[in-house]
Amino acid sequence: MAKKLVVGNWKLNGSLAANGALLGACGALAGVDMAVCVPFPYLADTALRLNGMALGAQSVSEFQSGAYTGEVSAEMLADLGCQFVIVGHSERRALFGEDDAIVGSKAAAALRAGLTPIICVGESLGEREAGQAMEVVGRQLAAVLKAVGAQGLKQSVVAYEPVWAIGTGRAASTDEAQEVHAGIRRWIAEQGIPSDKVRLLYGGSVKPDNAQPLFAMPDIDGGLIGGASLSAQDFMAICRAAADADKSH
Ligand code: PGA
Repeated sequence: MAKKLVVGNWKLNGSLAANGALLGACGALAGVDMAVCVPFPYLADTALRLNGMALGAQSVSEFQSGAYTGEVSAEMLADLGCQFVIVGHSERRALFGEDDAIVGSKAAAALRAGLTPIICVGESLGEREAGQAMEVVGRQLAAVLKAVGAQGLKQSVVAYEPVWAIGTGRAASTDEAQEVHAGIRRWIAEQGIPSDKVRLLYGGSVKPDNAQPLFAMPDIDGGLIGGASLSAQDFMAICRAAADADKSH
């Protein structure tokens, strides 16, 4: 497995001044791959301040060009230097009507433009309590597989983000996260894809104090970090934990 990957998801936060201060205190570390996914208007400025980190966006249009007012294409993101784009974040699914089919189309658009989609999957609290976590995640992944094929999924990153853990301060326990990650790894292998090639990130209330045990789990290949990525100190501490976890393997 490649190095661990830690991705900051700034969500709808930032300003030129605040981003400058944040990025000024962040930068690539040896032994871990790092990226920041920033709001569209700040991509170009952030591209100048990456200090060795990779650049990503938080969503992408499923369309390439034309009469789609307000949309941003994968080709435009690639043009601005993006390497990654988050697709299917639970906030987009819940608040902006993105269903499994749209998420699949967006992942396909990203791959066509040479971007690596970070495909977010995860169950709600009700679904977890009903014992349906893996069933929901499998359904979400199947929709992406249908759109991008085995080759496309192999080139993607998958982020397991249980909806009940996002922004709540209640991260999944290491065992809860590992169990679903192992299930995702198995599911990918069942599709005939070399599952050790697909990086599986955990997201949902990752903080400096829980990063180390999460990253020590055998099927957790990194993290997708929301709130804590807005603090340079916290984000860098989480990235250091990922680099250290890699060393100890
Ligand atoms: P959180 O968000 O770290 O603030 O829980 C994670 C995400 O939504 O990607």
